Amino acid sequence: MTPFYATRMTVRVVGLAVLILGLVVWTGSADGLVPVHMLLGIVLVLALWAVAVLALQAGSRPALPAIAIVWGVFVAGFGMTQAQILPNDSLHVAIRVAHLVVGLVAIGLAEALGAAATRTGERATR
Ligand code: HEM
Repeated sequence: MTPFYATRMTVRVVGLAVLILGLVVWTGSADGLVPVHMLLGIVLVLALWAVAVLALQAGSRPALPAIAIVWGVFVAGFGMTQAQILPNDSLHVAIRVAHLVVGLVAIGLAEALGAAATRTGERATR
């Protein structure tokens, strides 16, 4: 297993855990899990950055890795602040949905980076 594949798998496994924890937090019955969710969210962002750097090293064009790195900053920044955006407002649900979509896009970006690098036929990606 290459480092590239290992980091892609990390995004998948941690991404699934972050998603499930987030949905559990959304039910309102598990506020205590928010710090665990945030910690795993940060691990997810670090893994996304690692996938981006390894994709670059494997010969990917720089656009998608650059987008992934910027998106990682956005995921973390939005995640840290979203609870303060429109709190106690009926529109807060839109912020929650936006946070979910932003997180899913991060997972999708890692998949896209993996697919793009694999298409180039680089052995380093398998
Ligand atoms: C660094 C990354 C992340 C941070 C810092 C973060 C932070 C948070 C925080 C603080 C909450 C609780 C908000 C509240 O109590 O109202 C939350 C909830 C949630 N998160 Fe994340 N999160 C991150 C990544 C993700 C990712 C990647 C996903 C999806 C794949 C996700 C999905 C959710 C969902 C569904 C909820 C429940 C709805 C909501 O309150 O927004 N999060 N997150």
